Amino acid sequence: MARIVCIASGKGGVGKTTLVANLATALTEFGQNVIAIDANLTTSNLGLHLGVPVYNVTLQDVISNRARVKDAMYYHHSGFRFIPADVSISKIMTPRLNELSDVFFSLVYDADFILIDSAAGLGREATSAIGASDEIVTITNPDMPALTDALKLTRVAEELEAKNLGVVVNRIRKEQHEMPIDEIEKFLDLPVIGKVHEDRNIPVSISKKEPVVCYNPKSRVAEEFRGIAAYLIGREYEPRLPFVTRLFGWLR
Ligand SMILES: Nc1ncnc2c1ncn2[C@@H]1O[C@H](COP(=O)(O)OP(=O)(O)OP(=O)(O)O)[C@@H](O)[C@H]1O
Ligand SMILES: [Mg+2]
Repeated sequence: MARIVCIASGKGGVGKTTLVANLATALTEFGQNVIAIDANLTTSNLGLHLGVPVYNVTLQDVISNRARVKDAMYYHHSGFRFIPADVSISKIMTPRLNELSDVFFSLVYDADFILIDSAAGLGREATSAIGASDEIVTITNPDMPALTDALKLTRVAEELEAKNLGVVVNRIRKEQHEMPIDEIEKFLDLPVIGKVHEDRNIPVSISKKEPVVCYNPKSRVAEEFRGIAAYLIGREYEPRLPFVTRLFGWLR
C-alpha cells in the first residue's frame, strides 16, 4: 500500500515543486514505484518542471468527473508516473479534501509512494492536500519569514492529523543571516531530514524541464535530493560529493 506524502510549505516559492520532481526521480532510482500528483490547482506547475506545459487530461478533469484517473496519468522518462494540473486560468479550482482523498485513495494499491505537490499556505487548497495525505514533509528556506510560516503550517498539520516526517531546508547559502540547522530544529520542534544548498543547477534544470537529479545527476544538489529519498525509505546513503565541493570542504 502506498505512502501518501504531501510536500507542503507555509510560505510560497520555497521549493515544493522542485522537491517533488526530484524526490520522485530519486525514489524511482531507489526502485520505488512513485506517482507524483500536482494538487496545486491555482498555481500549478509540476507539469512544467517535468517537460510539458499543457496536457490533454489533468487532475481538474478527474475531480470534475470528466475523466478517469488513469487518463490523467503520464509517464516521466525516468520511470515514475505523474498527474499534472491544468495551468489555464479557466481551470483554476480549490479542491475539497474528500475530492483529493478519493483520487489519492484510488491509487494506493498501485504505487509505493504518492507524492503530493501542495499549494503554499494555510488556505483550503493546502489543507485539503495535507488532510488527504498520511504524512507531510515541510519545506522551508532558512530565513525568518519562511520559518514563521512553517511553524504555523506544522500546527495546522497536527490538527489535520498528518504525521510530520520533518523539515527540508532549501536554498542554504551559509550566510550569517540564515538560521542555523540546530536552531531550526528547536524552533519548529521537528528534525531536519534534508539540507539543499542554493544551486544554479536548479533554475537551469527547470528551464530545461528536467529534475536536476536527471539533468545533472552528479551535482551536489542531486545527491542532496537522493539523501532525502533515502531517508524516506530508511536506507543508508552516503552522498558522493563532487570533487570541487570536497576540496572546498577540506580547505575550510
Ligand atoms: N536550491 C535551490 N537553488 C536555487 N534555486 C532554487 C532552489 N530551490 C528552488 N529554487 C528556485 O526557486 C523557484 C521556486 O521553486 P518552486 O517552484 O519549486 O517553489 P514552490 O514552493 O513550488 O512555489 P509555489 O509556492 O509557487 O508552488 C524556482 O524557480 C527555482 O528555480
Ligand atoms: Mg509549486
